[in-house]
Amino acid sequence: MTEPSPALCMAGVRKVYPAGDGEVVALDHVDLTVAADEIVALVGPSGSGKTTLCSIAGALLTPTEGSVEVGGTDITDLSGSELTRFRRESVGFVFQTVNLVPFLTARENLLVVDELGGRSSRRANAGARADQLLEELGIADKATSLPSQLSGGQKQRVAIGRALMNDPALVLFDEPTSALDSKLGEQVVELIRDEMKARGTAAIIVTHDDRITSYADRTLHISDGRLDADHTAHDAATSG
Ligand SMILES: Nc1ncnc2c1ncn2[C@@H]1O[C@H](COP(=O)(O)OP(=O)(O)OP(=O)(O)O)[C@@H](O)[C@H]1O
Ligand SMILES: [Mg+2]
Repeated sequence: MTEPSPALCMAGVRKVYPAGDGEVVALDHVDLTVAADEIVALVGPSGSGKTTLCSIAGALLTPTEGSVEVGGTDITDLSGSELTRFRRESVGFVFQTVNLVPFLTARENLLVVDELGGRSSRRANAGARADQLLEELGIADKATSLPSQLSGGQKQRVAIGRALMNDPALVLFDEPTSALDSKLGEQVVELIRDEMKARGTAAIIVTHDDRITSYADRTLHISDGRLDADHTAHDAATSG
């Protein structure tokens, strides 16, 4: 067996958005490697580039400069349709606002991933996989409930299950607990950690939640679009 590829490798990533008659540099010189089973917490002030970083790692946005590899696949030069397919098959997203399809049940919200991905080989197993995930996430009894019939924490569990359906190399969480009260937040934090570690799946979790940073393997700080060097892989090179 060879070493698994890193879940994510970003090199020299820069992202510039046009804004009015000027531009905003949202990310600058970002170098980041996330190991295949690593959980990384990403913290930083509002506007520092956290969502932009996740969007680029998850192939929702392309960088202005630099290269991005996810699970060993170089996605830097993929076309729009290739990116769409890559995104469906290889990454999972969990957002603060959960984005469940309101007219589908919890179980159907998991199955819709498989239908969009169109992987015929997986299709036969999709129902069983959805049932297994709902069971693991403690919401098997809610399989036929609509999102409007679920609590905030239960909806977030469905979103986590949906992100895991395709067995992604990397799951991106953007403030997954910020809409939850502290008890539910705690449960969701533990769930994320247990699910990621049980599968050996890598995750980047954008958060202001100290419980998440304490669970993470590593915490990265970002400000003004730059990762803090003291907390990156260059740790050893800088002392003080
Ligand atoms: N589509 C866009 N067009 C122009 N500027 C943008 C766009 N998206 C983000 N920005 C700018 O890029 C910078 C980084 O934004 P980003 O959303 O990545 O920040 P963030 O760290 O996720 O902030 P928050 O904690 O508030 O969610 C900000 O200055 C923001 O205003
Ligand atoms: Mg954000």
